[in-house]
Amino acid sequence: MRVIVPSELDRKEAELFSQLDPNQFPKHIAIIMDGNGRWAKRRHLPRIAGHKRGVEAVRYVTETAARIGLPALTLYAFSAENFLRRPPGEIKFLMKLLQTYLKKELELMQRNNVRLEFIGRSHMLPPEVQERMAWAKEETARNTGMVLTLALNYGSRSEIVDAVRSMVHAAANNGGLHHLQIDEEAINRHLYTRHLPDLDLVIRTSGELRLSNFLLWQAAYAEIYVTKTLWPDFRGIHLLEAIADFQGRERRYGGLLETNGNNSHSK
Ligand code: FPP
Repeated sequence: MRVIVPSELDRKEAELFSQLDPNQFPKHIAIIMDGNGRWAKRRHLPRIAGHKRGVEAVRYVTETAARIGLPALTLYAFSAENFLRRPPGEIKFLMKLLQTYLKKELELMQRNNVRLEFIGRSHMLPPEVQERMAWAKEETARNTGMVLTLALNYGSRSEIVDAVRSMVHAAANNGGLHHLQIDEEAINRHLYTRHLPDLDLVIRTSGELRLSNFLLWQAAYAEIYVTKTLWPDFRGIHLLEAIADFQGRERRYGGLLETNGNNSHSK
């Protein structure tokens, strides 16, 4: 198959993209963006400087992901634990940063046909942040390209708790609990991620080997890619490197050897 390289990619990205197998492209990539604090510390800067540069990395990676035609990108922006365990000053800064990001980056979303979604217990975020989120979601609702999902005040265990509650609630409102049907499909339909395709690849920056309560259910068969690159230094080329690595994996889904995706030749 002929590979059409998007003209907006820079030279290095275009070179790597042209080496990828279009039949083995992931549909959904999620990223644990870690290492902002360490990036700042190495430069004797305050932690917030790392978060500011982290937003720039979000911009670059979103743009490359949208341009290569990735259907879904999910970013772990703030975990529920971040809210409980970080100093109030840093939380306040992160909330302001998010508001500015949503306003400033709208143009980038529209230009790249990106639809914005959110997962997490967003009702616990400050009201002005919730308003800005609703606004950005509405503004991008008619875009038909990549779905960019930001996980905010997100925890995977609380997502599963919320899904079970929602199932019970729906059954109770629908003729009674004897209508409650519990299987994997039903749970999938009640998770925050019901709008997304199956998760293929989880990337974690800055070297830590943990999922940190991120998409635990969804990552059941996902490939995991860890890089030592700190999040503020992460760019589109690193995303493409992760996809190249993914394409070299053998995905088995608990069965016998299978090649990745629907590719006919194995590695
Ligand atoms: C982890 O670095 C990063 C975060 C807790 C916040 C992630 C936020 C951003 C990338 C910027 C905001 C994003 C959006 C979409 C507005 P860390 O502080 O845990 O780093 P460390 O482990 O090196 O201390």
